[in-house]
Amino acid sequence: MSPSTPNREATAQRLLTSSAKLSYDPEIDIDWDAPLAEDKFYVPEHLVTLYGTPMWAAMDQRQRIELSKQELVNTVSVGIWFETILMQLLLRLTYHRDPTSRHVHYAFAEVADECRHSTMFGRLIERVDGRPYRQPFVWHRIGQVLPLVLTGPSMWVATLMGEEVFDVLQRDTMRDERLQPLVQAVMRIHVTEEARHVRYARADLVRRLERTNRASKEFARFVGAQGAMLLATALTNPSQYKRAGLDPREARRQAWANPHHREAKRHGAERVVRFLSEQDLIGGPTVRLWRRSGLLD
Ligand SMILES: [Fe+2]
Ligand SMILES: [Fe+2]
Repeated sequence: MSPSTPNREATAQRLLTSSAKLSYDPEIDIDWDAPLAEDKFYVPEHLVTLYGTPMWAAMDQRQRIELSKQELVNTVSVGIWFETILMQLLLRLTYHRDPTSRHVHYAFAEVADECRHSTMFGRLIERVDGRPYRQPFVWHRIGQVLPLVLTGPSMWVATLMGEEVFDVLQRDTMRDERLQPLVQAVMRIHVTEEARHVRYARADLVRRLERTNRASKEFARFVGAQGAMLLATALTNPSQYKRAGLDPREARRQAWANPHHREAKRHGAERVVRFLSEQDLIGGPTVRLWRRSGLLD
């Protein structure tokens, strides 16, 4: 281990202390009975995937707000799918390890966080009268084997792909006054607790890379690139446009061509791209996928 590598137990202890001081219970800390604001967006207007497109120009305010709601429901549905996989990964990580170590204790603490988050997201979907979105058939099936396949560095790359992009975008927008107060409250809780998850994942990834072989590093690169493509396609799920009363194919086409949406993706991914590049985890033939996703310049 190089002298600059953070000690595993020390990192976990710091994160456990932070969890003890600052954690939320969405059942209590969110006012689920507060009325929704009729004129407020569910995703900041400029982050709606069609913002600024010809389709957007043709929509009235009510339909724009409805689309923002469908995009929120889609995003948190992806969030639940991802967190359900992450919880399994974390539990598998603990299985062979020493249950008296802080490292294992923090993994358990993170499972507890994600349990509350997924419950909170489910409750949010219900509260806004949404219907959850299911992943496309292939990804739904792949999600069932991912907890077995992602080990070592690839586990943490997948985790960071799932956590960092949304974290950056939620951080930027949670104080937006034009956003539904309920959505703001959910984001505030999520952003606070996710910061620890990102630190845990990054620190363990750096440690594992020091003793990883070529093949598992290449696999981690592949997982990151696939994650980028998955994120980009999930954000423009055709079903969300359909439910908002739009032509799903044309809407997806306009979203992918939309410079505002491309900028949002690039900006959201900037932080994780910087980190993965520093760790030499973006490179080789799979860079092509990164570029196609629009998450990399
Ligand atoms: Fe979460
Ligand atoms: Fe998380």
